[in-house]
Amino acid sequence: MIARMASLPQVPAPPFPGEPERLSVKTAIPGPRSEALRARHAKHQDARTVHVYQDAKRSLGNYLVDVDGNVMLDLYGHIACVPLGYNHPELLAAWKSGRFDWAAGYRPALGVAPPAEWVDLVESALMRIAPPGLTQVMTVTSGAEAVENAIKAAFLRLAHRRRGGKPASPDELAACLRNEQPGVDRFKVLSFEGGFHGRSLGALSLTRSKAIHKLDFPSFAWPAVPFPGNRFPLAQYGDENRAIEARSLEAVEHVLNSHPDEVAAIIVEPIQGEGGDRHASAAFFRALRKLCTDYGAAFIADEVQTGGGVTGHWWAHESWELSEPPDLVTFSKKLQLGGVYLREDFLPAEPYRLFNTFLGDPVRLAQLDVIVEVALRDRLLDSTRITGEFLVAGLRELEARFPSVFTQARGAGTYAAVDVREPSMLPKLLERFRHAGLEVGSSGTASIRFRPALVFAPRHVAEALEVFARVAAELA
Ligand SMILES: Cc1ncc(COP(=O)(O)O)c(C=O)c1O
Repeated sequence: MIARMASLPQVPAPPFPGEPERLSVKTAIPGPRSEALRARHAKHQDARTVHVYQDAKRSLGNYLVDVDGNVMLDLYGHIACVPLGYNHPELLAAWKSGRFDWAAGYRPALGVAPPAEWVDLVESALMRIAPPGLTQVMTVTSGAEAVENAIKAAFLRLAHRRRGGKPASPDELAACLRNEQPGVDRFKVLSFEGGFHGRSLGALSLTRSKAIHKLDFPSFAWPAVPFPGNRFPLAQYGDENRAIEARSLEAVEHVLNSHPDEVAAIIVEPIQGEGGDRHASAAFFRALRKLCTDYGAAFIADEVQTGGGVTGHWWAHESWELSEPPDLVTFSKKLQLGGVYLREDFLPAEPYRLFNTFLGDPVRLAQLDVIVEVALRDRLLDSTRITGEFLVAGLRELEARFPSVFTQARGAGTYAAVDVREPSMLPKLLERFRHAGLEVGSSGTASIRFRPALVFAPRHVAEALEVFARVAAELA
């Protein structure tokens, strides 16, 4: 690992100003102050999921400082939500300079009386990074809301097509108020086993990663098919992966044939995130896009976790080189607010069909504006690509050194993961990593996932992998 440090790849991004040299651990993690806060917090909120309590002001760049003074290298980024690291000077300067002042005095209902600045921000932040071919964007707050509105847009388009563009009949208008919509009640969205699309009730019917998310909640009886979930390294398992993908595509086509004109959309994550960092090939997604076109189903790329630059592109689907863009692309997390990009023809025929009170948050979009500026200026996506290659190569090396502990290293950009060979080891491993000063998270049942900020650089990779190797040597 020392040898690796000497040969760190160069990235175009400048170092994060003033960032700590490295992690440092002073107490158990979580430490006594975190535990005291948890006890207070738990009196009013469910605090069982909290890793540590963070010192918001002292955290810097890739280093999360907790209330006990531990400086942790952050590989998890608040579940993939931190684009520029903690307290990036440009974000703080924008805040202090008054750039966001116009947004401080009230929270608007953006569908009713948006401030003029909102229109500037939609252009300069959201449209500047819009997926090619998608010209409309609806903003909301969270990823689940983004998914809800994407599937609603797909349902609206299917209903509009069925009616031949005519307005709804008086019978239809009356029936829907009784929760009866003959025909429409049979509309479906097809999703993939192992996928995660949120926890609101519509989105939850599409979520199929873990039972604990779904248990005891009513759901729509919508179809699901296996996600291919390629094995790694790809070159070694090429034939096997192609066969798995072909079977998955056959299952998709079977569903489309079994429910003619009822499948409004197919929703898919470019890389299954919560379900265990499962990847499929670009060829698979191109074939899926074509099936959607052939059968008139909307193609929804759920980029809530993969969007925002972490794969080395603003949108993971850009690497598929589709001949026709996705119809709808959902986002949240690193973009700081939720939303869905739509192709022009998915704009509903009438207003208020996709609507809510806030329709997003100007403060968050103003922050995104700065984030996009910095990402472009500092070439953070190019850096993420280089850092990601170094990271995955390092994980492969670890896998080779500790085959009894690690397997299946993989990634796109710094959206990377490695599996533990024995899933029952995962909780212990995560605990050891945290005690050693890494803020980490898992995905699926066996994966350690990397979801760092766009300022994550090769030196952070080397530091993280040193800890991985030390802990693995203790366990192997
Ligand atoms: C792919 C994907 N879609 C939707 C969601 C839901 O987002 P939120 O938790 O903001 O509702 C997530 C959250 O992890 C996600 O990873």
